[in-house]
Amino acid sequence: MKKLIPLFTLIIAFQIYSRADEGMWIPMYLGEMNEAEMQAMGMRITADDIYNINNASLKDAIMIFGGGCTGEFVSDQGLLLTNHHCGYRSIQKHSSVEHDYLTDGFWAMDKSEELANPGLTVTLLVRMEEVTSKVLDGVNENMTETERKAIVSANIDAIKEEASKDNDYKILIKPFFYGNQYFLFVNEVFKDVRLVGTPPSNIGKFGGDTDNWMWPRHTGDFSVFRVYADKDNNPAEYSEDNVPYVPKKHLSVSTKGAKEGDFTFIFGYPGTTEEYIPSYAVDMKLNAVNPVRIAMRDIRIKIFLDAMENDPETRIQYAAKHAGISNGWKKWIGENRGIKRLKAIEQKQQLESAFADWANSDNTLKEEFGGLLPAFEDAYGKLNPLEAKMAYLAEAGMGAEIIRYARSYGKLIRLCKDKESSDEEISELVGKLKHSAESYFKDYNVDIDKKVFASLMSAYYNSMDKSELPSIIVEMHDKYKGDYQAMTNAVFDKSIFASKEKVNAFLDSYKKSKYKKILKDPAFDIANDLTMYYYKNLLVAEDAYSKSIDSLMRIYMKGQIEMQANKLFYPDANFSLRVAYGNVDGYNPDDAINFNYFTTLSGIMEKENPDIYDYVVEDKLKELYNKKDYGRYGDEDGSLHTCFIATNHTTGGNSGSPVLDADGYLIGINFDRCWEGTMSDIVYDASQCRNISLDIRYCLFIIDKFAGAGHLVDEMTVVE
Ligand code: ARG
Ligand code: ASP
Repeated sequence: MKKLIPLFTLIIAFQIYSRADEGMWIPMYLGEMNEAEMQAMGMRITADDIYNINNASLKDAIMIFGGGCTGEFVSDQGLLLTNHHCGYRSIQKHSSVEHDYLTDGFWAMDKSEELANPGLTVTLLVRMEEVTSKVLDGVNENMTETERKAIVSANIDAIKEEASKDNDYKILIKPFFYGNQYFLFVNEVFKDVRLVGTPPSNIGKFGGDTDNWMWPRHTGDFSVFRVYADKDNNPAEYSEDNVPYVPKKHLSVSTKGAKEGDFTFIFGYPGTTEEYIPSYAVDMKLNAVNPVRIAMRDIRIKIFLDAMENDPETRIQYAAKHAGISNGWKKWIGENRGIKRLKAIEQKQQLESAFADWANSDNTLKEEFGGLLPAFEDAYGKLNPLEAKMAYLAEAGMGAEIIRYARSYGKLIRLCKDKESSDEEISELVGKLKHSAESYFKDYNVDIDKKVFASLMSAYYNSMDKSELPSIIVEMHDKYKGDYQAMTNAVFDKSIFASKEKVNAFLDSYKKSKYKKILKDPAFDIANDLTMYYYKNLLVAEDAYSKSIDSLMRIYMKGQIEMQANKLFYPDANFSLRVAYGNVDGYNPDDAINFNYFTTLSGIMEKENPDIYDYVVEDKLKELYNKKDYGRYGDEDGSLHTCFIATNHTTGGNSGSPVLDADGYLIGINFDRCWEGTMSDIVYDASQCRNISLDIRYCLFIIDKFAGAGHLVDEMTVVE
């Protein structure tokens, strides 16, 4: 216990060196840990201007947008900016053939035209507090992990209860440094968030999946929303009586632009990084997990693309599905390349051998840390094959839509088998299933799914020894003697889940006993067997190894900090508010290739291709380009800058984060990373890791000049 508490003191006290660029820092410790360096790098404001709980600070302008993105206030009327890909779902939900906002964009010309988004939330941080000693109160080094967990979770419950007394805030406690440190977050959740504007997809998603994760980039990846509150400026459910929320702080927007070398920082919610994991974990990712995911998605993506290229309707139906699976696929490819290029496993092994020497240098250290690395080796040795099997199950077994769709009927079976459930409950669920069938089949193409099913089932069967496979995969193979076409035809002909008509007919005449028909359905049968296999053969074991790895990581993390006493440590990302800082900078990804740090509207015209959906350019944009009508948004070099890159350390969740300059003014919106740097979640390489941001001037130009929604820019505080 005594050893646990001073850890943070240790982190601060010995932080003499740091590697600029790498790191996602805790805002409340910037003053102690980073301010001097940030100022030396060019920052003209103070740590207090960024995070302060007594006075309005930049942190009051930053929010969690929805469930996994960042956004920022840019006016005193609750106006906020985030990415187009973060607003995508909301935009899609409002879109129909008559109002295709995805294709055409949407702009509310006054507040009455703004569109409500049930379910969409904006979360603001009221304050955070370190609560390590309270969470670990009663924990000692002699107890078992189970005892420790019980105490920690009881303490967390008590602290939460105390903190939520007499208020409507949402209280969260998150572990940092793998449970060596704990923070309490007091959050305010707003539920009335309205869509104000979005550019058409050929601006907001320009370059699509081809350009995704890549530089040079020309995507106008932004959308505009507004938060509403009740008359007292408090969060409220949607109501016509609500009024625009007045944030404590909104960002000033600068049209000065970003120049090479300029200091920038990013303030937002990075989701997950794993910078401190051992070599065995990196090895597992590189060799066991990523290759399976990539190979299985390769199959699906090729089938999707082939069908999408040949038919415009299919292209629309499969656009979001394709974007979703290809985002991860492309990232993992980049990640694996980066891990290999950086020799990340070897780097980690070197650290581990130094760690072993250090741990064995003294008896006390040996007692605490001596057994760690062999324990990791053992745990990962066991976890490795399980994780590969998990990846096959998720990507191949559950890859065909029909299987996932059939599985969603399990709930109906459970309800019907339950003697207690009433007819009302059942008909309510049937109603929901009818509703979801409508939207499911709207975007479903059975021919594509048959191809996916046949290819993935066969790939699954051939992936490992029979004895290791879920039994259904082997049974099916044997039953059809390896003829996957015959298997596919049989499943799809017999299953009701392949056809909207069959599903509707089934649901229209539904009565309680009909659940037996689902049980006999071949697609449901596969889904059910695979789910059972998951619970019985994978989950329990996986959970046990992961838990033991979690505990080992806590000790290893503490050891790494103690061993590298003069290294500056930042906690892995955990979707809590962080600051990353660096400089605007180009890079050189390969021999003789040098990337400039910004792109321009001319690049959009160069990429234009009216035959390729992702590269269509709107006439209006061409007109503005031809007239060079950039107004105050043009750069002093005469061009209109679209995106820029910098060395800020970011990850998924940072999308939509503000990119701020030395004065704390908004100069860009973060939305992606360069492909060569996607391994930054595991190892950061200052020469190759770049975050990609939309130049705020391009965003304002689109709002004002392209969309004619200048009234929104008028609402902002623009610094020229
Ligand atoms: N790669 C970015 C991120 O991880 C943006 C993805 C959205 N764009 C797309 N073309 N799929 O979320
Ligand atoms: N595109 C990511 C996001 O949506 C950001 C990243 O991974 O760099 O959060």
